[in-house]
Amino acid sequence: MKIARTIEEVRAAVANARAHGAVIGFVPTMGFLHEGHLSLVRNVATAALSGRGAAEGSGTHMFIIVSIFVNPTQFGPTEDFSRYPRDEERDRALLESENVDLLFLPEVDVMYPPGATTRIDAGAVARPLEGARRPGHFEGVATVVAKLFNIVQPDVAVFGRKDAQQCAVIERMTRDLDIPLRLVFGETMREHDGLAMSSRNSYLSADERAKAPVLHRALRAGEEAITHGIREVAGIEKLMHRVVAEEGGVEVDYLAVVDPLTFEAPRDFDREVLVAGAVKIGRTRLIDNIRIPR
Ligand code: PAF
Repeated sequence: MKIARTIEEVRAAVANARAHGAVIGFVPTMGFLHEGHLSLVRNVATAALSGRGAAEGSGTHMFIIVSIFVNPTQFGPTEDFSRYPRDEERDRALLESENVDLLFLPEVDVMYPPGATTRIDAGAVARPLEGARRPGHFEGVATVVAKLFNIVQPDVAVFGRKDAQQCAVIERMTRDLDIPLRLVFGETMREHDGLAMSSRNSYLSADERAKAPVLHRALRAGEEAITHGIREVAGIEKLMHRVVAEEGGVEVDYLAVVDPLTFEAPRDFDREVLVAGAVKIGRTRLIDNIRIPR
């Protein structure tokens, strides 16, 4: 696995891979990798080839790029940018074992040289839920992802569905800005007790970790109500709140039933809906969601 720390190094590696007929697959991350990230790497490998309709043995091969960049512009002033977990050595070893071809590890001034002020606003989909609680967050995400897409110019990029609204923001931006690539969204990987895998789980003390699966349990309760035909959004949200309250010591940021395209309350239940939530346990904020097909 090669390491690139500059944009020029990435561009040279991609040009070389393309010259040899490779399909470029890309997984942007903020590092401190876990099984969820590794499943995205495996996803991009499959997606990159299937997108070309390449039969096995056809000679088409992929070139997989992972970036690790803790993006300061997507953190609010009181958020966890400086304490966000980092472990470059361990991440490198994990990616080596997944046969990643190139790891892009830019410093902040590579991504944001002095004077860089342009930001991308993805519009309405970036406003509710996470957007309302974390002002500027999705501008930071959309901006860094657009920059990474311009640097890497991948054929396929993969993002995890745990960040459902982020997926919607990136899909909107990619379409609106005519960025020529295919997006793939990987399923959320979970611990044995349902907790969604996240780098932020490492902040949890043993007591907090024991409480954390309540978010998934609450969302499951919402899912169950919907699959049993309950259609009253306020009632479903109340039910999810009750599950969290019963656990105790967990603060709800939001627990909502939304349309997965707009992230507003669904107009009806004739299409897929999403139950999404964010809770705080001690100083740690966790998010999760479940998609519920029609
Ligand atoms: O999901 C993440 O890890 C980040 O938001 C991303 C997409 C890498 C942008 O910084």
